[in-house]
Amino acid sequence: NNTEELQTLVLTTLDRENVIADSKDLKTVNGEDLNQLALLGVLNSLKSKEMIDYSAINREFWSLSGEGEQVAEQGSHEARVYEAIPAGEEGIAMDEIKKILGKAANIGQGKAIKNGWIKNNGAKLVRTADSIVDQTKNDLLEIKKTTTHSNTKTLNDLKKRKLVEKQKVTTYKVSKGPQFALEIKKEATDITAEMLQSGEWKNASFKKYNFDAAGISPDGGHLHPLMKVRQEFREIFFEMGFEEMPTNCFAESSFWNFDALFQPQQHPARDAHDTFFLKDPANTDRFPRELMEKIKVTHENGGDTGSTGYNYVWKEEDAGKLLLRTHTTAVSSNMLYKLAEKTKKEGVFRPAKYFSIDRVFRNESVDATHLAEFHQIEGVICDKNLTLGDLIGFMDVFFKKMGMDKIRFKPTYNPYTEPSMEIFSYHTGLKKWVEIGNSGMFRPEMLLPLGLPPDVRVIAWGLGLERPTMIKYNISNIRDLLGHKVKIDMIKEYPVCRLDKKMGKELVGVSE
Ligand code: PHE
Repeated sequence: NNTEELQTLVLTTLDRENVIADSKDLKTVNGEDLNQLALLGVLNSLKSKEMIDYSAINREFWSLSGEGEQVAEQGSHEARVYEAIPAGEEGIAMDEIKKILGKAANIGQGKAIKNGWIKNNGAKLVRTADSIVDQTKNDLLEIKKTTTHSNTKTLNDLKKRKLVEKQKVTTYKVSKGPQFALEIKKEATDITAEMLQSGEWKNASFKKYNFDAAGISPDGGHLHPLMKVRQEFREIFFEMGFEEMPTNCFAESSFWNFDALFQPQQHPARDAHDTFFLKDPANTDRFPRELMEKIKVTHENGGDTGSTGYNYVWKEEDAGKLLLRTHTTAVSSNMLYKLAEKTKKEGVFRPAKYFSIDRVFRNESVDATHLAEFHQIEGVICDKNLTLGDLIGFMDVFFKKMGMDKIRFKPTYNPYTEPSMEIFSYHTGLKKWVEIGNSGMFRPEMLLPLGLPPDVRVIAWGLGLERPTMIKYNISNIRDLLGHKVKIDMIKEYPVCRLDKKMGKELVGVSE
């Protein structure tokens, strides 16, 4: 075994000579040079047991290239051209030299002329020097012998001519350590009951802890990428003083999901084609009666809101239909009602900022970018005298925190907001404006029945969590991120998420 041989070699040499001045002089039993890298492994292992200590010796040396070897043996091209020319006046034609020297003839001719060794008399090459010294060959022979040269310029010139190469080697100076011994003691990794009983632990030597060792990655408890990105968004909201809404109940009544939001009962979104209705139980009547009456009249004729309403007969049974919430705005309406109740009870209105990031469900056909369920990020700000300017200004700040600094708005329609604005962000990668969310100011037809003071305004917005996550983790098919086809290994392997300003540039979320 090579490692054992190396260990024995190091230990016996140290035992005999006390120190190994340079491991380059160590030889194997067969008299061969050591593999210094294998030696390093052995040295590290002995050092960890404090049996030895070592330091590195870094050395540069020069060696001949293949062509350099050839020149050292046969002479430089210029010298060979000189040798090929007979002494005296008659000279020799270049073609003849080429026959002997091949390609080397051309290079050699130029250099030999430059050196003043030969000249071209028009028809032939003739010698102009009686004798020459082939310095290049001599230099190469010196380098071959000594692995260096007294003149650095020579080394660099030869290197440029690709005749020599610079090499680096590391060898080691090795000395005895405090635990030096010829035999390697087996180190214990644990104290056992037997060792304690026998007293053996007193003399045992223990393997040191390696605090630099990379840990084994844990097998359980991995967060899904969506949850990692969610946490980052959560922190942005908390940083801005928002309170998280309870969104843990996915089943909701049509009342909170639609009616409380002034969404008429014949609105196409309330169709089974778009919404998942529950079968068992299919209905609930658990919503505040008093509020229900107000909402009913507001839908029918506007009630006290100054609106004309939708002019239809509002039915309680439609409001009672249970569904999987189609948006987290169902929770916002409920929260605003609670806020209104609290305001009434306490006699003072306190501004509120709410957010949530949770699952919503829509009856959609599934493809690479759409699922029947996704996550919505929802924000709600409730204060007196808020204006559209506040909404635009706030959106600017909010999206900047997510790294999106180019934001544009486009008017749109929601039954519960007026004005309503789609939010677009400039995607530097795609070089175009992409829709990232929807927003607006809740209508008085929604807020007044809930019981909020008339001068209270609410600005709100919603965006998707999936799109930014897909961009962040480079996932192109949403089914690889969410749903039954997701690979568990993927969840284990995805790194933590940090939304910094740099990543934010490519970060886009889309609300449907
Ligand atoms: N509920 C909207 C959607 O699902 C988002 C939204 C929230 C719009 C609040 C305006 C105000 O797209």
